Amino acid sequence: MTELTGTPITRRKSIQLLLGFSIVATISGIVAPIIAYLIPRENAAAYGGPSVVGAAADFPLNSSKIVSVNDKPIIIVNTKAGGLKAFSAICTHLGCVVAWNERKSIIHCPCHDGFFNAVTGAVISGPPPLPLTQYELVVRDGQVLVGKQLPGRSA
Ligand code: FES
Repeated sequence: MTELTGTPITRRKSIQLLLGFSIVATISGIVAPIIAYLIPRENAAAYGGPSVVGAAADFPLNSSKIVSVNDKPIIIVNTKAGGLKAFSAICTHLGCVVAWNERKSIIHCPCHDGFFNAVTGAVISGPPPLPLTQYELVVRDGQVLVGKQLPGRSA
């Protein structure tokens, strides 16, 4: 066997090249996933970062909308007293999905008549043992973003 330069490739040289290639391929196979894990991706929402849930105009005053954030239902409410807020839409009693009561401007669980404050998520009445879990919400460039769960609440 000869190289293009005319220098012959010995059997020993061939085995050394194959062995060297194998070592480089093995190390690359180990290091590449570690580097990919350590470098954050562009789409942070898939990893728990803030998610765009709509334009601010999609949430008029005294209304609500249930959106999905990281596969969890989140109720976005816009009240005169508290502005835009994001809460888990899962009732803390037995896990029903809550709804908006426009007439009373409160969050209502239709399963057992649990009522929650739309500004704080606190239980107003009914069987729910805990307030609704609140999530970070910011309006940036006219877009509503929902982020991580705020501390001090559990559901
Ligand atoms: S599940 Fe909501 S009040 Fe019972």
